Amino acid sequence: MSSSVEQIKSRLNIVDVIQGYVKLERAGVNFKARCPFHNEKTPSFFVSPIRQTWHCFGCNRGGDMFSFVMEIEGVEFIEALKILADRAGVSLEPFDKKYKDERSRILKLMEEAKNFYIEGLKKNLEAKNYLLERGLKEETIKDFGIGFAPPEWRGLLNYLRNKNYSDKEIEKAGMLVRSDKGIYDRFRGRIMFPIFDGSGRVVGFSGRIFGGGKKEEETAKYINTPQTIIYDKSKILYGFDRAKDEIRRTNKCILVEGQMDLIMSHQAGVKNAVAVSGTALTDYHLNIIKRLSDNIIMAFDKDEAGLAAAKRAIDMALLNDLEVKIAVIPFGKDPADTIKNNPDVWITAVNNSKNIFDFYLDLLEKIESPQKKIKEIQETILPRLAVLTSEIKRAYWIKEIADRLKIKEEAVWEEMKKIKKEERTGVLKEERKNNFDNRLQMIENRLIGFILWKREDNDDELKSLVNDLVKEFSIDLERWSPDLKDKFVFEAEILYGGGNYKEEFKNLALEYRKEKARQELAFLGEKIKELELKMGSGGLASDEAILLKDYLDKFNKLTKNILNYEKKR
Ligand code: CTP
Ligand code: MN
Repeated sequence: MSSSVEQIKSRLNIVDVIQGYVKLERAGVNFKARCPFHNEKTPSFFVSPIRQTWHCFGCNRGGDMFSFVMEIEGVEFIEALKILADRAGVSLEPFDKKYKDERSRILKLMEEAKNFYIEGLKKNLEAKNYLLERGLKEETIKDFGIGFAPPEWRGLLNYLRNKNYSDKEIEKAGMLVRSDKGIYDRFRGRIMFPIFDGSGRVVGFSGRIFGGGKKEEETAKYINTPQTIIYDKSKILYGFDRAKDEIRRTNKCILVEGQMDLIMSHQAGVKNAVAVSGTALTDYHLNIIKRLSDNIIMAFDKDEAGLAAAKRAIDMALLNDLEVKIAVIPFGKDPADTIKNNPDVWITAVNNSKNIFDFYLDLLEKIESPQKKIKEIQETILPRLAVLTSEIKRAYWIKEIADRLKIKEEAVWEEMKKIKKEERTGVLKEERKNNFDNRLQMIENRLIGFILWKREDNDDELKSLVNDLVKEFSIDLERWSPDLKDKFVFEAEILYGGGNYKEEFKNLALEYRKEKARQELAFLGEKIKELELKMGSGGLASDEAILLKDYLDKFNKLTKNILNYEKKR
């Protein structure tokens, strides 16, 4: 497919294509017009002859000549391809077949990669021993296709080239990285977990750092396949292919965080488990589960990240009308850890999992002060009861609350009614936090647009300003799709094209530093509040007191920084 697309693009100019539908005016290096896709008085539709792209800031649509024709003619891609091929005098091969062929070749490529890594593990005794030490059995390693990516730059690349895969295909599969220095394997010196789709085909990998001289702190513990034509992490649950029958049979689905947790659980014979591994739980994931069972048991890690993830997952599951239970592991940091020590402890934890409302109510027993108990009920329990679709379940738990607190049921019902719609669950609260993150994201997008726009600029001062910022905040320029990057460049060009762009960049960078500091401040504020509350109720342990002081110091320093930033403006 791509070759005909490229042929067409080389023969046609986007300006001519769009001119056929809309009257364009010059605007600096670009062209502009009133957007044909929404009603507007002033033009916010732009076309770049340099990048051969278009974007409308009013309705936030954009892309290349194909997407333009799709939008304006109201047709699918294949139709747009036909229209433009006709215009360009390019003859097309049947598209469908090509697309299918491409997918199936990439699936085969991934299978080859899996075999390459399995061979890699055979050759690396250290990696193999590490896995055995983590408690995996030989047959489990084999069953899950676990392998090892040798710490070489182009090990897999050469292997796949020899099997007649093109660099383009290997890149499309997400297995290589392109940089100024050339191309190289995405996964190097890592233990490799193949990620399977629902029918057990390898669609991606998750690689855990191992050996190669790098320490865990220096690089991500896990790296994963990016989005590809066969892999979408928001849709894949790790282990689902082997868990689905058991989920249906037991009418329960256990949700764990990491692939090690999942594999260990299956090895221990608890086979109705799936893992979110490497991404946030999505509604899509929950829907996959829901087709098989309405009962979900969460078993997240006992660290801070795990608790936060659990909280979010619980709320999402409740909103999706699932029956939510919590499996608490009595010791160990996560299920994998627990199972390694004693699989029976895991089996018991799962069997004894508690309904989420029982779990929250039991937590209340530990709170002494009646005011705090009431606050917990108002803030944690009632908002979650409010989203239940079943009146009977709600009534059941309200009675339970009343009984446990020895108060009248009516009083609890009255409180329940007071809960405002927008405060019903943490997920909704999270949306508000997202808005806050959004501002930061917006500034970061502008920065990225600016940097991509001025990439080739030769001004040394600008270069070093950009480098400093990218380094200081580990800004990832390749994180966005080509379409979004293009939108960001358009934005930069339009916003800063007319003026003194170096000054503008400095302002933007300042704004970014400020927003980053604010975010950190909000985080510290939360932590300080928690610790101060604790100090008020029961007192702090000595390490907590140190932590509090540390937070307060950081808080004050950041506040000063922000004030300084304000002055610089
Ligand atoms: N993860 C990730 N990227 C990271 C860290 C974690 O994608 N930088 C994903 C992995 O799928 C991992 C899961 O999140 O399995 C849970 O993270 P964590 O608990 O930190 O990893 P563990 O599975 O406990 O890792 P291990 O036991 O191998 O140390
Ligand atoms: Mn873990």
